[in-house]
Amino acid sequence: MNSSVLAGAATAPAKLAMPVTTDSLLQRPNEHCSFVIFGASGDLTRRKLIPALYNLACAGLLPEGFHVYGFAVTPMDDEGFREAMGQAIRESHEATSFDARVWNQFAKGLHYITADFLSPEGYQQLLQRLTTAEQASNAPANRLFYLATQPSFYADIVERLGSSGLANKTPNGPNWSRCIIEKPFGHDLPSASALNTSIHEVFLEDQIYRIDHYLGKENVQNIMAFRFANSIIEPIWNRRYVDHIQITAAETLGVEHRGGYYEEAGALRDMFQNHLLQLLAIVCMEPPVRYQGSSVRDRKADVLRAMVPINPESLADIAVRGQYGPGIVEERNVIGYRQEPNVRPNSNTETFVALKLMVDNWRWADVPFYLRSGKRMPAKVTEIVIQFKRVPHLFFQLGQDDQMEPNLLTMRIAPDEGIALRFSAKVPGPEMHLRPVQMNFNYADAFNVKPATAYETLLLDAMIGDSTLFNRADQVEAAWGVLEPLIDIWAASKPFQPFPNYASGTWGPPAADALIARDGRSWRNYSVTSATHPVRHATAHVEHTGEPIGARRNRGDSGTKRE
Ligand SMILES: NC(=O)c1ccc[n+]([C@@H]2O[C@H](COP(=O)([O-])OP(=O)(O)OC[C@H]3O[C@@H](n4cnc5c(N)ncnc54)[C@H](OP(=O)(O)O)[C@@H]3O)[C@@H](O)[C@H]2O)c1
Repeated sequence: MNSSVLAGAATAPAKLAMPVTTDSLLQRPNEHCSFVIFGASGDLTRRKLIPALYNLACAGLLPEGFHVYGFAVTPMDDEGFREAMGQAIRESHEATSFDARVWNQFAKGLHYITADFLSPEGYQQLLQRLTTAEQASNAPANRLFYLATQPSFYADIVERLGSSGLANKTPNGPNWSRCIIEKPFGHDLPSASALNTSIHEVFLEDQIYRIDHYLGKENVQNIMAFRFANSIIEPIWNRRYVDHIQITAAETLGVEHRGGYYEEAGALRDMFQNHLLQLLAIVCMEPPVRYQGSSVRDRKADVLRAMVPINPESLADIAVRGQYGPGIVEERNVIGYRQEPNVRPNSNTETFVALKLMVDNWRWADVPFYLRSGKRMPAKVTEIVIQFKRVPHLFFQLGQDDQMEPNLLTMRIAPDEGIALRFSAKVPGPEMHLRPVQMNFNYADAFNVKPATAYETLLLDAMIGDSTLFNRADQVEAAWGVLEPLIDIWAASKPFQPFPNYASGTWGPPAADALIARDGRSWRNYSVTSATHPVRHATAHVEHTGEPIGARRNRGDSGTKRE
């Protein structure tokens, strides 16, 4: 919960941020713990988990005597694992620059067990090594297990953690056990509830940390701060003032080397069941009584339970699926999805989805939520756009050139984490002329520090036993419940428009534009210029930062940061 201020916090407005050392803000977890990664020779461990742990080590935030035990089938010894992870750190974009002193200390705590997830021997070996280390340092058997494996192994591994005595039903206090489970959690509602049932055989719900890395992102956590720490926001954050909300998660990337996984998942399972419905829940939730695990998660679960069920009869009006064909992305020719490795040549797996959802409660009744996510889009962007209703009455005599746009609040999660508000302002001059201008808050500018990565935040929270930013069983099942009609019908039918139905480098199939246009609205398609230089933005920019446009560029900031 509190680890997100890892790299710094500005108490004063922009530019006055003092570089903050972690010591002044955060104490590292004071309890010894061992971290066991199942799937330690895999992609997630190399690209996300070890770089995040190394960054925590650099920030002095790993508990005393912290040890990592990697478990996978590729033969390696401790030294081999340390070398491989050392290489991973050097190659990582997310890792803090390589510091030999920190690395040597951190690497001493890296261990590896070559074993099959299904073989009991591996677990016995792991138990023996953990117990030896814990007794040697007279430390409690606090164990954090991370399932960085294919979902098909989750239940088997958990069952063996229980039967081998590696895990127990103690969420907190000495000798605690906790288990972090990667997404996807289940394949549909029945499989998710079956998985929950089998995991609850070994762990209590408070010991299970279902990860959704979006929840660890700074600007996702900032949505709650923005809504509930600013008294001017809450009164307008409802159906009386909000016309509609758009949530977009677009990638320029294709499926790359993950064709095998993606053929089983598709965009609906890969992005909607978790990331997009979680963002919707945070945007829509009622204020919790406390910023604490169950209180926050109760309010989010309420939103998922208030979703208007998808009516199979009107599916064509509210849902569009798409699949990318060849095209041009970032000035490069790219192949279509069906030509990607490990993808069937006649695959009907969707790489794009647009969905119109409604939340049936006092706050949001009749306000449409337009969600979309797709691969091979023109830009990599994740943003929440809140469009407010037009003013009820305008008494200004508007001329030809006047432009009246409704207020637009954009919460940009990536790139360029920040918040922008578009409003109408008087154009300088003797007469009253109106133009939309934009007020911009940019995280990096305001706090002048490199924010923690999502995995750093979430791993530290799991070590201190804070599950606020993790998914609970009822939330996961409610999210599957929302999408179930769509999953079933799409699995049983061919796409209306034969696949592929959008070229790479476009914002998806035309049907997606038709979906929102039917309501007299249009998607806000992100582009670098629209984000950083909307109409007459210059004025507000100067007003907001006191620096002419372009100052940012001098610091080498191109305005499009790659995560
Ligand atoms: N990669 C990402 O960026 C990413 C992002 C979000 C979520 N996830 C999720 O994280 C999980 C892991 O993804 P990944 O990309 O890291 O997968 P991966 O690269 O395929 O790694 C899978 C790991 O499991 C091990 N393994 C497989 N079968 C085994 C067996 N029978 N016994 C022992 N070890 C076995 C593999 O060992 P060998 O290599 O030795 O075979 C490897 O270490 C998945 O659920 C995925 O959906 C991944």
